[in-house]
Amino acid sequence: MLIIGYLLGSIPSGIWIGKIFYNKDIRQFGSGNMGTTNTFRVLGKKAGVIVLLIDMLKGTLAACQPYFFDVHINVLIIGCAAVIGHVFPIFAKFKGGKAVATSAGILLAYSPLFFVVAWLIFLTTLYLSSMVSIASMVGMTLITILSLFFHDPILTVIALILTVFVFYRHKGNLSRIKNGNENLVPFGLVYRK
Ligand code: G3P
Repeated sequence: MLIIGYLLGSIPSGIWIGKIFYNKDIRQFGSGNMGTTNTFRVLGKKAGVIVLLIDMLKGTLAACQPYFFDVHINVLIIGCAAVIGHVFPIFAKFKGGKAVATSAGILLAYSPLFFVVAWLIFLTTLYLSSMVSIASMVGMTLITILSLFFHDPILTVIALILTVFVFYRHKGNLSRIKNGNENLVPFGLVYRK
């Protein structure tokens, strides 16, 4: 299940969709990332939504394997294999995304309600900041704090590990935020100013 999860996570949807349907390698444009945000930026809304759905679904499908195979293994642990695949994809020379959408997909498998809460936090922060990077990092941090209400130590430990991982993958974004030149999305208060 870990191997299947890793291979699922490794599917570089942004790169493949860009190359197949738009004849563009999104890694050579925008932030250079292969994830949802850069797909929206470089290829537009339609491709962005499709990449978002695929990248989340990778995490959800990987994490749901214990349900499919009817074995008692924590879904979050199996789901993490997909996040590792997404960040270090075997199908894209081990240079992948920033772990956000696939982590959200795992959360959906764990608790659909918590997934909805996570999306509300993300969208609220995005509205206030107009920066997906800030919304992603704030979202992951608040999810880790809120996970304490579930009284599930595995959830909290995995949320904490993924949060640290997401911050690490946003190193470039953090320095752009510090320098005041992070990319904005056309949504929310900061963009409108
Ligand atoms: O999930 C990635 C997002 O937080 C930032 O993406 O392309 O702006 O670096 P990007």
